[in-house]
Amino acid sequence: MVSSEPPPLTARRSGPLRGAAAVPGDKSISHRALILGALTAGRTTISGMLEAADVLNTAEVMRQFGAEVTREPSGEWRGWGRGVGGWAEPAAELDFGNSGTGARLTMGAMATTPISAVFTGDDSLRKRPMKRVLEPLTKFGATYEARDGGLMPVRLTGADRPICIGYEVTVASAQVKSALLLAALGAPGRTYVTQKALTRDHTERMLRAFGAEVSVAPHGGGERIGVMGEVELRPTEISVPRDPSSAAFPLVAALIVPGSEISIPGVLLNPRRIGLIETLLEMGADISIQDHRDSGGEEIGDLMARHSTLQGIDVPPERAPSMVDEYPVLAIAAANASGRTILRGLEELRVKESDRLSAIVEGLRVCGVQVESLEDGMVIHGRSGEIPGGATVATHLDHRIAMSFLIAGLASRGPIGVDDASMISTSFPEFETLMRSLGAELGSAP
Ligand code: S3P
Repeated sequence: MVSSEPPPLTARRSGPLRGAAAVPGDKSISHRALILGALTAGRTTISGMLEAADVLNTAEVMRQFGAEVTREPSGEWRGWGRGVGGWAEPAAELDFGNSGTGARLTMGAMATTPISAVFTGDDSLRKRPMKRVLEPLTKFGATYEARDGGLMPVRLTGADRPICIGYEVTVASAQVKSALLLAALGAPGRTYVTQKALTRDHTERMLRAFGAEVSVAPHGGGERIGVMGEVELRPTEISVPRDPSSAAFPLVAALIVPGSEISIPGVLLNPRRIGLIETLLEMGADISIQDHRDSGGEEIGDLMARHSTLQGIDVPPERAPSMVDEYPVLAIAAANASGRTILRGLEELRVKESDRLSAIVEGLRVCGVQVESLEDGMVIHGRSGEIPGGATVATHLDHRIAMSFLIAGLASRGPIGVDDASMISTSFPEFETLMRSLGAELGSAP
């Protein structure tokens, strides 16, 4: 009999975790490589690409725009794009599944090409705000129709005669910034985007690698990015480093499971993605970085992590953009620490794959951790390695909530289960196998 129930998964208190955790490629960089490849008339090769549902959906969408996207038997991906302004109008709607990054960046990339497309996604993505991207894209001359509140499905029509713009992005979102920088490629002249928050800069770095003219200058505490439009991008080779947002799970697991010692090779250490490592070090984590090196315009290094006695801290709110996806698993580290940890400045967490602020608070409480909910964050009262557990956590279609609470279960007194583990495949399909190979007790038994 075929069951339509989502698969649950349970984690149990485990012995020491040991070994090397080769986590998959970075999600942000993988999306960008596919999109820029599709905007390039020539062959782009991508090695180490994340082969998870979110990114595979973006690959399929690039094919719908007329790009050739293939996977070689070696595991390398190849793209042959249609050039800036050369995308064909898709015959069917574009389904981005669970991925806000795929959807929003693609909206930007097509907004200055005179074609029309319908953007949609799963139940989680159809609840997420799209106006933050769509409104600024109208300044280039694009138009759109959306459901009430700017929700998907959205029909976007690219500008017939695009114009370059100057725009201040007020939300601390790399997706919005990136969408505008990608739209700028198709508009004559130079577009300027300013942003106070220093959000991840993979789009700027990769645009340069593809030969675009990009300027970055300090501006009012943040920065101003200029992109010259109507360019011909240069085919290039992209090597995708391992994703620090996925590395975060085995990393925190090693810190909280007694006796553990693991390594995580080749992790992306872009200065705008290392907020979690900085925070864990301040909490007393035994993490070291070896062979910090450059890899194709991005910094990478090998991480070593050992079981540690963690102390709660007050996490600076301005650090949020550099660890925006890591708060769920940081909350698990904080719940295992001694003393309280204060997390603030987390408004953006309300509009992720779920309302992550509520999902974390609710999950910690059912696991027996005392937590105060704040408008923009939370205060977690650490249990010094003694989370009661013995509960099932609601994941609200959110992969990071699922993985974070499974990590918590590896060190809690009673098992911790999640109601639905299926979303983990959107970003980290190897999660269960990889964690088991380190010694984690994960299984589907209730
Ligand atoms: C991403 C930016 C962040 C992050 C997401 C990936 C990106 O979203 O949460 O997982 O690749 O640009 P916001 O830009 O909405 O903060």
